[in-house]
Amino acid sequence: MSELLNHLYGQHHRLCTTPAGQVTLVLSRDREIDLIELEQLCDAVGWSRRPIRRVRRALQNSLLVVGLWRHDARLPKLVGFARCTGDGIVDATIWDVAVHPLYQGAGLGKQLMVYVLDVLRSWQVERVSLFADPGVVDFYSTQGWELEPKQRRCAFWYAP
Ligand SMILES: CC(C)(COP(=O)(O)OP(=O)(O)OC[C@H]1O[C@@H](n2cnc3c(N)ncnc32)[C@H](O)[C@@H]1OP(=O)(O)O)[C@@H](O)C(=O)NCCC(=O)NCCS
Repeated sequence: MSELLNHLYGQHHRLCTTPAGQVTLVLSRDREIDLIELEQLCDAVGWSRRPIRRVRRALQNSLLVVGLWRHDARLPKLVGFARCTGDGIVDATIWDVAVHPLYQGAGLGKQLMVYVLDVLRSWQVERVSLFADPGVVDFYSTQGWELEPKQRRCAFWYAP
C-alpha cells in the first residue's frame, strides 16, 4: 500500500485521521492538481469562478500547493485544497483553504493547516499570514493563529 501511496501522492504525503475510517484521505504537496477538479471544489464551497488559465498561472507561481485527496487507486478525488505564496524563507501567505462540504466537520481542515505549517516550518519560514473570511476567523484563532488588532480578517503565525 505505501508504495502505491508514494506513487500516487509523492513521498511527502500524509494520511489523515478520520472518525469513520472508511475512506482513506491523503494530503499531498506533490500530486498535480487537476484544474477542473479544483474549480468543482471551489464551486462546492461557493467561491466565484476564476478563469482557468489564471488559476494555472497562480498555482505555477505558488510556493506550495497542497491537495487533500480521497484515495482511490485509479482515480483519487480532490476534496480539499490550500496554497501558499511568499519568499519561502522569511514570509509566506496561505490562500484558498477549502474542504469539500461533504468532508467538512471531520477535522480535515485542521489537518490540512497542520500539514501546510509543517512544510513551511521545515523550510524555516518565520512568519505566515492569511486573510480569513469573516465567518471563518474562529477556525483559525482556535488553532493558535494571532488575529490582527481589529480581530477581523488577517491572522498570523510565527515560528517559535
Ligand atoms: C473552513 C474549512 C476549511 C474548515 O474545514 P473543516 O474540515 O470543516 O474543519 P475541521 O473539521 O478541521 O474543524 C476544526 C475545528 O474548527 C471548527 N470550525 C470549522 N469551521 C469553522 C468555522 N467556519 N468557524 C469557526 N470554527 C470552525 C470546528 O468546529 C473544529 O472545532 P473543534 O476542533 O473544536 O472540533 C471549511 O469549512 C471550508 O472549506 N469552508 C468553505 C471555504 C472557506 O471558507 N475557507 C476559508 C477561507 S479563509
